[in-house]
Amino acid sequence: MNSLFRVSYTISFFFLFSSLCNTSILVAAHDPYDPTGNITIKWDVMSWTPDGYVAVVDIVNSQLYRTVQPPGWKLGWTWARRDEDEILWSVFGGQAIDQGNCSRFISNIPHSCSKRPVIVDLPTDTTLNQRITNCCRGGRLSSRYQAINKSTASFQISVGNAGTTNRTVRMPKNFTFVGGRAEYTCGPAKMARLSRFTTPDGRRITQALLTWKVVCTYKRANVANKLPTCCVSLSSFNQQKKANCPTNSCGRRMETCNTQGNPGIVPPLLKCTDHMCPVNIKLQILQQPKEKGAYMTVNVSIVNFNYRMNYIDWTLLVNHPFINKLTRVIHANHKQFPNIKMAQLMWGIKRRNDIITTSGRKGSAISWVMQLYKDSSTNATSTSSSCKKDWCAPNEILFNGDRCVIASL
Ligand SMILES: *[C@@H]1O[C@H](CO)[C@@H](O)[C@H](O)[C@H]1NC(C)=O
Ligand SMILES: *[C@@H]1O[C@H](CO)[C@@H](O)[C@H](O)[C@H]1NC(C)=O
Ligand SMILES: *[C@@H]1O[C@H](CO)[C@@H](O)[C@H](O)[C@H]1NC(C)=O
Ligand SMILES: *[C@@H]1O[C@H](CO)[C@@H](O)[C@H](O)[C@H]1NC(C)=O
Ligand SMILES: *[C@@H]1O[C@H](CO)[C@@H](O)[C@H](O)[C@H]1NC(C)=O
Ligand SMILES: *[C@@H]1O[C@H](CO)[C@@H](O)[C@H](O)[C@H]1NC(C)=O
Ligand SMILES: *[C@@H]1O[C@H](CO)[C@@H](O)[C@H](O)[C@H]1NC(C)=O
Repeated sequence: MNSLFRVSYTISFFFLFSSLCNTSILVAAHDPYDPTGNITIKWDVMSWTPDGYVAVVDIVNSQLYRTVQPPGWKLGWTWARRDEDEILWSVFGGQAIDQGNCSRFISNIPHSCSKRPVIVDLPTDTTLNQRITNCCRGGRLSSRYQAINKSTASFQISVGNAGTTNRTVRMPKNFTFVGGRAEYTCGPAKMARLSRFTTPDGRRITQALLTWKVVCTYKRANVANKLPTCCVSLSSFNQQKKANCPTNSCGRRMETCNTQGNPGIVPPLLKCTDHMCPVNIKLQILQQPKEKGAYMTVNVSIVNFNYRMNYIDWTLLVNHPFINKLTRVIHANHKQFPNIKMAQLMWGIKRRNDIITTSGRKGSAISWVMQLYKDSSTNATSTSSSCKKDWCAPNEILFNGDRCVIASL
């Protein structure tokens, strides 16, 4: 084993990033890290009622690293009956944002009569009688890598004015899904294999009367027009070598930023910085590879410059030429991508560094340490455009799924 690492390090591995001109990646047809990642909407009709049915709708995030962050998910659709639209008598574990025109009802007013209902999640402090399983996380959805048990959201609807048999009922159409600040494109609803459910005691299996599915995928094309939200700066252990974030990486300085370190009562929303990014990822080399040492130790820290927004359950996708199966991450969770071996997803440890609080407060900067090995099979020069002379930069860093600007020397 040892010989594998006896690479002679006469040079220090620093970071360098040469190209902000990689924007062509942004409009690629699919995500190379997660080619089949999607959010699937599952609509299970559970029982018939005198004028319609009761259904449980699941929103399953099967994306490996994309989370849904505040303001949370929003699911919309258009009712499909031709003569008179369906109505939502009630919703549990979620709510329609618009009640629509219910004036034709005299007593017993429906929850929503909108032709195009849009459902959002309920907050975390929702009372027990409004809850169902997998509801009420304020619209957050974890990625599959982070916490598969928090990657599904569910709500229950009672639909009226609808068909009451599997032949007369209509699949809603034109589904739309918004995941926090990210937009998705949804395909048509399709009949699917009937879902099966096991009762809590595990003794009985039931099945849905009808199951429809809709697949929604992340809209990458839109990203090209968005301002970046994060930048990556690099430094040596003694700060002698530094590569700062480019000025105005994330936008121009404006009235909504504040230098006092005190948010006041009205916006400014951000602390003023040269880079004007809400988030700065700092890579500091603590230990350079010794002659026979095969790794370098990097202190990764994330600093939040927002005055009004915490980052909860954040993710950091790190693509670096020295990331491989030997990568060690201390004080953070991590997982390798199946398709791109040079990339790992990192995320916080509960109650240690999974929350990055607002600027100026304790916890607005979090950190951990990673060890990167340059094994003998890695030829940094050939595997990466981000190595120049003795400096190596990450190829790519994504914070909460958003690509960060990387400092150049
Ligand atoms: C959506 O994700 C599921 C789960 O990973 C996968 O089985 C399915 O093939 C994906 N669908 C599409 C259209 O990518
Ligand atoms: C609401 O619905 C009623 C009856 O269905 C209709 O007469 C009325 O014009 C509608 N109002 C609006 C503002 O659409
Ligand atoms: C969810 O999964 C995580 C780790 O996979 C575990 O620590 C946690 O307890 C689980 N939570 C629930 C509610 O099952
Ligand atoms: C509808 O229900 C009938 C009788 O229960 C069944 O034979 C038929 O296969 C069902 N059709 C669909 C599309 O599920
Ligand atoms: C689908 O819904 C969107 C959003 O409301 C709307 O802009 C679009 O025209 C609708 N498309 C169809 C085919 O109904
Ligand atoms: C990593 O950097 C952070 C912020 O600069 C600092 O607070 C922390 O002590 C550093 N950790 C180590 C192990 O050097
Ligand atoms: C590494 O790649 C460069 C450029 O492709 C090549 O010139 C060099 O010989 C390679 N070195 C090794 C050790 O394979």
